[in-house]
Amino acid sequence: MRTLQNILVTGGAGFIGSNFIRTLLTQDTGFQGRVVNLDELTYAGNAASLNDIQAEFGGKRYFFVHGNICDNKILSGIFTEYNIDTVVHFAAESHVDRSILGPEVFLHTNILGTFNLLEAAKTAWQKNDGSIKEGVLFHHISTDEVYGSLGAEGFFSETTAYDPRSPYSASKASSDHLVKAYFHTYGLPVTVSNCSNNYGPFQFPEKLIPLMILNMLEGKKLPVYGDGKQIRDWIHVEDHNAAVRLILQNGKSGETYNIGGENEWENIRLLHKLIEIVCDKAGLNKDTVMQTITHVTDRLGHDRRYAIDCTKIKNELNWKRQFDFETGLANTVDWYLNNKEWIDNVRSGEYRNWIQKNYTRR
Ligand code: NAD
Ligand code: TYD
Repeated sequence: MRTLQNILVTGGAGFIGSNFIRTLLTQDTGFQGRVVNLDELTYAGNAASLNDIQAEFGGKRYFFVHGNICDNKILSGIFTEYNIDTVVHFAAESHVDRSILGPEVFLHTNILGTFNLLEAAKTAWQKNDGSIKEGVLFHHISTDEVYGSLGAEGFFSETTAYDPRSPYSASKASSDHLVKAYFHTYGLPVTVSNCSNNYGPFQFPEKLIPLMILNMLEGKKLPVYGDGKQIRDWIHVEDHNAAVRLILQNGKSGETYNIGGENEWENIRLLHKLIEIVCDKAGLNKDTVMQTITHVTDRLGHDRRYAIDCTKIKNELNWKRQFDFETGLANTVDWYLNNKEWIDNVRSGEYRNWIQKNYTRR
């Protein structure tokens, strides 16, 4: 089992990364070391999501660095200053709809950014004879979307051929290939995980579940793309992050691990479920909310079905999910109902002022 000491988390102010850092530092994970969070704070980055962590661990075991993974100088400085032994690379442009409207930034961050990070890790970890020092690991967070779109049958496994179909998934596929190339070419110890759709607290309300919850609470329309019969496999963010921690400790270098919820839902069915939960908890009239469902023009190239076969990580790393969907979804709705300040700051754009108020760039 690897011992984790100084972890560089990229994109730690985003949805999955912020949950990863909080759990790592505050729950019984056995982690005793330090976390450096490198985040550019794009529209998707919300540093206030970790205000509690900054207050408790800031300057001791938690260090926030405002910067871009495309910036070589910042990267090499971090590896040296904090003696990084583990990279967990979450930072990415992550929204398919945005990648359709403006693909270029996806290529910069997801492909060039990952390349820069790989180079920085290789430079920091390479010994004079070209070999890589012991005990280090670069873990790359990726998505099931690299495998393309399924018909009614079958599952994505680690050996499924890549077939990305959106600019987002094409950029993630490219980054996955680069990570594997650094393993084969330079011997850089790497692992890759490809996960299905995450849900949970702190997700930016452009993604399906938080968008629908907030629109319901605000009496807005609920936009369903096309016929709404596309299928996604939903997993709680904490189950995803527990799998990532297992990979960091026990994963085999050079390997890919698929992570999924084994929990397939048609979008429209999921929306009906969500309406029931939100109406029940927020005292809204279910019939009125149902009438706000609006079928809108379908997403270009919309993938029909994703579903993950996660036998490998279950068998090899003994990973088990903790959340059933019913409870996870109800907890998530509770979180959005109880965190008005976070939501108001996102809705008003105030969250983007965090950096001016709290941080001096080096
Ligand atoms: P997110 O959009 O919520 O967060 C991304 C974070 O990366 C933000 O904090 C943003 O500021 C930061 N970032 C973006 N560009 C950057 C750059 N150039 N330099 C430094 N930081 C930058 O994303 P998320 O949903 O938390 O996803 C995290 C990772 O997990 C991504 O790599 C994504 O592809 C992958 N993933 C997400 C899901 C999902 O359902 N959300 C599923 C599978 C895999
Ligand atoms: P999303 O949360 O954007 O994740 P991804 O595209 O990575 O799977 O979307 C989940 C599903 O919900 C996807 O099939 C698109 C659909 N969708 C809608 O129907 N309406 C919406 O407003 C959004 C954001 C998504």
